[in-house]
Amino acid sequence: MEEQKLRELFHRLSVHDKIAQTIQLNGDLFVESGVMNTGPAKDLGFQKEPNFYEIGSIYNVNDHQKLYQIQKDVLENSSHKIPLLFMSDIVYGFRTIFPMPLAQAGSYDFDLIQQAAEISAKESYLNGIHVVFSPMLDLVRDPRWGRVMESPGEDVYTSKEFAKRVVAGYQGEKADYLQENHVAACIKHFAAYGAPEGGREYQQVELSNQKLFNEYLQPYEAAVEANCELVMTAFNLLNGVPSTGNKWLNRDILRERFGFNGVLVSDYAAVQELVSHGFAKDEQDAAKKALEAGVDFDMMTAAYANALPELAKDQAFAELLDEAVWRILILKNKLGLFEQPFRGLTEPNTGEVLTDEAKEVATKLVEKSCVLLKNETALPLKKTKDQRIAVIGPYAESHFTLGFWASVSGRSSDVLTLKAGLLEQFGQDQLLFSRGFNLYEDYSSFGPLKAGFEQLNGPIEDEEFLLEQSLEQAKKADVILLTIGENFLESGEGASKTNLRLPEKQIRLIKKLAELKKPIVGLLYTGRPLVLTEVESYFDSLLLVWFPGVMGGRGICNLLVGEASPSARLTMTFPRSEGQIPIYSAQTSTGRPLGGNAHSERFVSKYIDETNEPLFSFGAGKSYADFEGTWQGVEEKADGIHCCYEIANQSEREAWVTPQIYLLNHPAEIVRPMKRLIATQHFLLAAKERKVVTFTLLEEEFAYFDNEGVRYLTSGNYTLQLDLLGIKNNQTFHLVKGE
Ligand code: BGC
Repeated sequence: MEEQKLRELFHRLSVHDKIAQTIQLNGDLFVESGVMNTGPAKDLGFQKEPNFYEIGSIYNVNDHQKLYQIQKDVLENSSHKIPLLFMSDIVYGFRTIFPMPLAQAGSYDFDLIQQAAEISAKESYLNGIHVVFSPMLDLVRDPRWGRVMESPGEDVYTSKEFAKRVVAGYQGEKADYLQENHVAACIKHFAAYGAPEGGREYQQVELSNQKLFNEYLQPYEAAVEANCELVMTAFNLLNGVPSTGNKWLNRDILRERFGFNGVLVSDYAAVQELVSHGFAKDEQDAAKKALEAGVDFDMMTAAYANALPELAKDQAFAELLDEAVWRILILKNKLGLFEQPFRGLTEPNTGEVLTDEAKEVATKLVEKSCVLLKNETALPLKKTKDQRIAVIGPYAESHFTLGFWASVSGRSSDVLTLKAGLLEQFGQDQLLFSRGFNLYEDYSSFGPLKAGFEQLNGPIEDEEFLLEQSLEQAKKADVILLTIGENFLESGEGASKTNLRLPEKQIRLIKKLAELKKPIVGLLYTGRPLVLTEVESYFDSLLLVWFPGVMGGRGICNLLVGEASPSARLTMTFPRSEGQIPIYSAQTSTGRPLGGNAHSERFVSKYIDETNEPLFSFGAGKSYADFEGTWQGVEEKADGIHCCYEIANQSEREAWVTPQIYLLNHPAEIVRPMKRLIATQHFLLAAKERKVVTFTLLEEEFAYFDNEGVRYLTSGNYTLQLDLLGIKNNQTFHLVKGE
């Protein structure tokens, strides 16, 4: 619609019509949608029930027929015929569920990540969704927090690249209108929701401004630069102010400094929760503070609906309301909803999902995101006909390997299980399956899902029997493939933990199997880094498969037999002990480092009961091949720092490789991390191939902020480190162009 027409429509709206546009509710109001409620669902407390056909948006109805009917009813029953906006928690796939984001990011194959986002967008579009609530861009350094699975991890560079590419995949080329097969991206949760104290869900966040500007805000800013259309606020307090009512954060930083002019949506019930925080005295005050902070959509509370009629009598608030509604209408217009209210729903191929192409991309992304943490001799598995493999552990047959957020639109029945994948590679008689242990203690927490769950997952069995059965099978085998880890409900929203070790029954099984002295290949299914210190040494090989999505079984097996080569690197540190948390790569220096000789051994920065090192560091990840790399030169030129290194595949097999370039300590006005990732590449090398790699780093990559948010670029000597799976090579250069 032309802007002039949109303005005319806007001017025809009464204050009540405008307020209605700022309301976002879940689809339960219209249909039995099976929406997952993460907060108070019923009795929202509308003083005057709004006309639901006039509200701005609903979310998490993922059925195209239902959406078609809802939009039809809206157009027939609303006075201004403003189409309803459909949002949804499509976090890593609509029906083609890809590996969870923490896994995807470790692939460092950003082209593939973008392709996966394009597929998610297309499937969402063809099912009537307009906005997806992702990517989640909260930097995470505490694995106790269950939502780390949704994030690209602990690192700024990785998260920024992930942000840009996922937004581009969802939204397509920047244009005045969002093209067909694309959806608008709603990044979340602004800001710093990934750093709750103690790793406890919904808990407060305390961060210095320099850490905010240099690290936590960076991925969101990258997404804004990539033109994301929406941002979601966060539940947490940030330095004493709730994000949803934080004017400085949402107006001064997000809108003014970053230049965001899209729609800001509150998180679920977060406006009302300003009262629970004690930040607002009542609902009226909460609505006032959220509107002042620039929140356009009130998700799942009645605060705007109840309070704005009175507030908007004041000219200043009427103007703020106008701004919010105008932004919402612009978004609807960018989606083309005034011309095509049934956007996506009228395509002849409506509902098209899980195509062969989508499955192919999903399989590749599994291959690229499983991290080989350890490998002595067992992998890749031989495919000789006389070899017998004991496949132990409940994940082999489990369909519940999609991860927490996939339950919104994904289907467990779509999963190609590990067992199915193994049967594609090995003969039935070579594989000896046993369940090992019950992944769930009972199914009571599944409510209405219980029936389907039990059917797909099997009955709960006696643990002693399962252990004995596994040992019997293992005795008959040459190699043991053991699946261990978390069940999918142990991560995601509302799943904080203090104990990150495997359950006792899994540890016992590992130790008992180890007594048989056969090589054990561990497959670790998890939504977060776990503490594996007690069990790591029992494995010959350990492949971290995360929650791998619908094509998990095939992708994992391609890696196991060497048809694909492991190349992923951890984007989040695995601690040796929970007491080391937060432990992450980009740490700053201490005046008293361990190993320094200025102080006695006692008075240095260390633990007296644990080492300072993690079990698996950020960047860990092995290959089946061996590489060697050396710098050829690093030089400052007019357009940036020109870098060149040579890499050689020294093995007889073709392999993907993911070199990482770190910036080591450098001159600055404040203390910067001793080591931070600044670039990565990802490519295939043939057996024995040598390759010269060149790339340019922009000078802005070396800039940083102080606690007032002032930007610096300091000249001096900088050191770049080329890291090839633990082999390190350093090169120092002088940056002249500092400010
Ligand atoms: C979560 C968001 C999610 C929203 C809607 C909230 O509880 O924090 O990430 O998008 O619910 O389901």
